Formats: sequence, structure tokens, C-alpha cells
Amino acid sequence: MSKRLIIAIDGPAGSGKSTSAKLVAQKLDYLYIDTGAMYRAITFLAIKQNVLNNPDAVINLAENTDIRLSFVDGTTEVYAANMNITEEIRSKEVNANVSDVSKIEGVRTALVRKQRQMGLKSGGVVMEGRDIGTVVFPEADVKIFLTANINERAVRRAKEFKDKGVQVTTEEIKKTLELRDKIDSSREISPLIKAPDAVTVDTSKVTIEEQVDIILDRIKETAVRKNIVVNI
Ligand code: DC
Repeated sequence: MSKRLIIAIDGPAGSGKSTSAKLVAQKLDYLYIDTGAMYRAITFLAIKQNVLNNPDAVINLAENTDIRLSFVDGTTEVYAANMNITEEIRSKEVNANVSDVSKIEGVRTALVRKQRQMGLKSGGVVMEGRDIGTVVFPEADVKIFLTANINERAVRRAKEFKDKGVQVTTEEIKKTLELRDKIDSSREISPLIKAPDAVTVDTSKVTIEEQVDIILDRIKETAVRKNIVVNI
């Protein structure tokens, strides 16, 4: 296989990571990996098994659960412990606990190992998360850091919930987002920070098409510089 690129897209919740990473991966015909879905899967299982307060048990889940992600019709289908938990990992309860689970060092070590394996196996990958450009793939060819103001991010998440028929106010979402931002950015191990060589894209006032185009332009530039063929 000819050389393909590793593309890292990081940023806080609601910054437009998933939407743009999926579209970029589709354009390039690359594998798309949503690493947040993996932290969510472990959180869901920890809640289900009532072990949230037992870090060793949570680490055990991260080390020994076979998590599978498959991208079907624009959605990441998530399977773990022989269950399809695609819907369940997006619940309010998982939202409220996932940042605390993500702080556990052993959980991160286990999931980062899986993420590297998945990315390296695929050849070309668009991986999104919080620490992809800093920890999972510090050697990524293209690193994008997406940001957006908190009000805009809360409105986007509120719309996602409304589309699914879940009643939740924008204010309530804003509070959860602020709390998650705080925990994700201030944790000791691989906090949410921009890699020094990442390009920041503020998505507050741009359309999805515009943000995808900005990312594709960076990818094209890198591909030309590294003499790698991409079909854009
Ligand atoms: O992208 P998301 O909102 O689905 O991510 C859920 C949580 O998972 C997020 O609040 C922090 C954690 N996470 C992480 O710590 N590292 C990643 N690479 C991806 C997500």
C-alpha cells in the first residue's frame, strides 16, 4: 500500500470534531476513529457493573474489554462485551461520568495502546479525541485543534439531543460542558491541550463545509510536502 497519512483532530466537546473528522475521513476514504466513544464505552460498562468508584475494576475493564468501532452510515457503531452500546454511550449518565473515568491513568494507558494499534493497522486514519496529537500519535502528519465558544458548543449539543427526542435545556448542557472542559483540561495525565505543531481552527462562526475545507487544505499541503498521494 502506498504511504497514507495519520490525521489527528483534537478539541473540546462540541467543537465540531466528530462532524468534521467523519467528513474528512469519508473524503479521503480513510478509517475514522472516535476515541471518545472508547472512553464512553468503558464508562457505560463501569456504571452497568456498579464499579465507578473502584479504579482498579475500571482499569480491568479498559484492559480486558474488546471494544469494536464500526462506522456505518455516518454513525460510529460501538460494540463492547458482545453488546451494541451505540445509543447507551451517549446518555446523560455517561456524559456526567466519562471525564472522571478518563482521568484514570491505567484506563488511558490501555485505551491509548488500542488506539495506536487500530491507527497503525489501518494505514490511513483520521482519529479524533483530546490527546491524539500529543500522546496517541505525536508523530501524526497533520494535527488540527478545533475550538468554539461555549455558547455555540452548548447550542450544538442541545440540537443533537433534541434530534434524538431527549429533553434537556441548553443551560444544563452548558454546565456539563464547562465541568467536562475543566476536568479534561486540568487532569494530570494527557490533559486536553493543543500540540505545539497543531493548527487551531475556531469553528464558532464557520459552517461545517468551511471547517472541512480548512482541514482538507492543510492535508493537501502536507501531502504535497511529503509526496503522498491523496484523493481529495
Ligand atoms: O469526544 P467525546 O465528548 O465523546 O469524549 C468523551 C470524554 O472522553 C471526554 O470528556 C474526555 C474523554 N476523552 C479523553 O480523555 N481522551 C480522548 N482521546 C477522547 C475522549
